[in-house]
Amino acid sequence: MKVLCAAFVLSAMKPVHYPPAELPEIAFVGRSNVGKSSLINTLAGRKGLARTSNTPGRTQEINFFRINDRIGFVDLPGYGYAKVPETLRKQWGPMIETYLRERPTLRLVVLILDCRRDPSEEDLQLLGWLRHYRIACLPVVTKIDKLSRNQLTGRLQVIAAVLGTSPPALPLCFSARNRVGKEALWREIEKVLRDD
Ligand code: GTP
Ligand code: MG
Repeated sequence: MKVLCAAFVLSAMKPVHYPPAELPEIAFVGRSNVGKSSLINTLAGRKGLARTSNTPGRTQEINFFRINDRIGFVDLPGYGYAKVPETLRKQWGPMIETYLRERPTLRLVVLILDCRRDPSEEDLQLLGWLRHYRIACLPVVTKIDKLSRNQLTGRLQVIAAVLGTSPPALPLCFSARNRVGKEALWREIEKVLRDD
């Protein structure tokens, strides 16, 4: 996909503040600091489009982007970061769930996982929940530049087994550092959009 224009639209917490549901949307979810915003920037080919940070919990609202005025990208706040204030943490589950359940234009959820870690309880809960609501989900393993090829092979098998994908399929691999997986992920996104 050639990205000619990529723009931030707005941040919102509640459906009344979302942009109009016009474009097919791809949502990016995963635990705090896993690399969601970096992955969006890599796909868009724009460094500062989504704000990234070394500090977990950077993205606290739902951020909407437009790609080529044709596709919506949605950066969801990460879960699983204990240091976020309790009141804020309590809003996150419902905020993410409301978006996922009520957005009519949502076409695909990209579930982002760190290649070095086993999927967390929250990752699995979310996956089960998406399956229950029949929302298409694509697991993507990121930060693969942090592992050797051998280490990665082992980790992918463990992650695939924990996710319980059937037939057993290895998740798509990605790195925002060296852009591995960028084209493959775009192909998956385009496939979903074509099926519309
Ligand atoms: P929250 O918004 O806090 O939930 O985080 P996030 O999931 O959006 O993560 P973000 O993209 O802000 O990245 C977190 C940290 O991981 C930053 O320091 C990034 O530079 C780093 N990072 C992200 N992707 C990669 C990658 O593929 N490789 C490496 N080595 N570092 C990465
Ligand atoms: Mg972020």
